Amino acid sequence: MNAFDLSGKTILITGASSGIGKQAAISISNYGGRLIITGRNEDRLKETFDSLKPGEHLALTANLSIAEERDSIIEQTPEINGVVHCAGITGHLPAKFIRQQDLDEMFNINFNVPVLFTSQLLKKKKILQNSSIVFLSSIATKYPYFGGALYGSTKSAIESYSRVLALELASKKIRSNCLSPSFVQTPMVEDTRKTISKEVLDKFEKMMPLGFGEPEDVANAIVFFLSDASKWVTGANLVLGGG
Ligand SMILES: NC(=O)c1ccc[n+]([C@@H]2O[C@H](COP(=O)([O-])OP(=O)(O)OC[C@H]3O[C@@H](n4cnc5c(N)ncnc54)[C@H](OP(=O)(O)O)[C@@H]3O)[C@@H](O)[C@H]2O)c1
Repeated sequence: MNAFDLSGKTILITGASSGIGKQAAISISNYGGRLIITGRNEDRLKETFDSLKPGEHLALTANLSIAEERDSIIEQTPEINGVVHCAGITGHLPAKFIRQQDLDEMFNINFNVPVLFTSQLLKKKKILQNSSIVFLSSIATKYPYFGGALYGSTKSAIESYSRVLALELASKKIRSNCLSPSFVQTPMVEDTRKTISKEVLDKFEKMMPLGFGEPEDVANAIVFFLSDASKWVTGANLVLGGG
């Protein structure tokens, strides 16, 4: 038996219209999983859907910052064996320029949404026993960088939340883990190039012995955390590509 096999498992994945979430969805389908994918951009979500290995998958467009749209996803979600919270945003802002509006915007999608989504799924009993919940944190919580206070704080918050969730859900054998990648070549990092100079990005890359990662590198770890191969791993935070 292949311990990484995901056949028979239904996985809900947010942020599936781009980057890490898109590749995670494709990889999960290649390992036999059935998917409920969600993202804001309908066309790009459809692109992901069309790239999945054929199966009884579902694509649901939603802006998860809007409570009603989140509720609608929950209603349409069947019982699941795993959730991967990939939806998120980044931004670089020196500490003295952080405004209330920046706090609200970034904490909302990076922290409030995965937290509220998880509690709703649990209350509606959508997450089955022996399931796995995966959160995307970031290496930013370990290595401070100029302008990273807000983004890093949202990710530190999700790491704390995940550890407590692991404890609270252990009796149901539901696992909760975080992944903390460093730079992964996705549209998010492409956007970063608009606000960080090439010199600074080159410096970051030199600090990483294995260089920048590809979405597949994170997707493979996500497959591990969703599969029975990780049935004894919870409350963990796997750093990827940090070197
Ligand atoms: N790339 C990296 O280097 C890196 C490193 C460490 C951690 N991470 C984390 O990994 C996760 C995925 O990052 P990525 O690089 O794949 O980013 P990405 O390519 O920019 O994708 C972000 C995804 O989040 C979705 N999203 C954003 N706001 C949303 C909202 N309000 N409602 C619903 N969906 C929303 C986007 O949907 P639409 O595109 O449809 O709007 C998109 O699918 C993020 O949490 C990020 O912080 C990334």
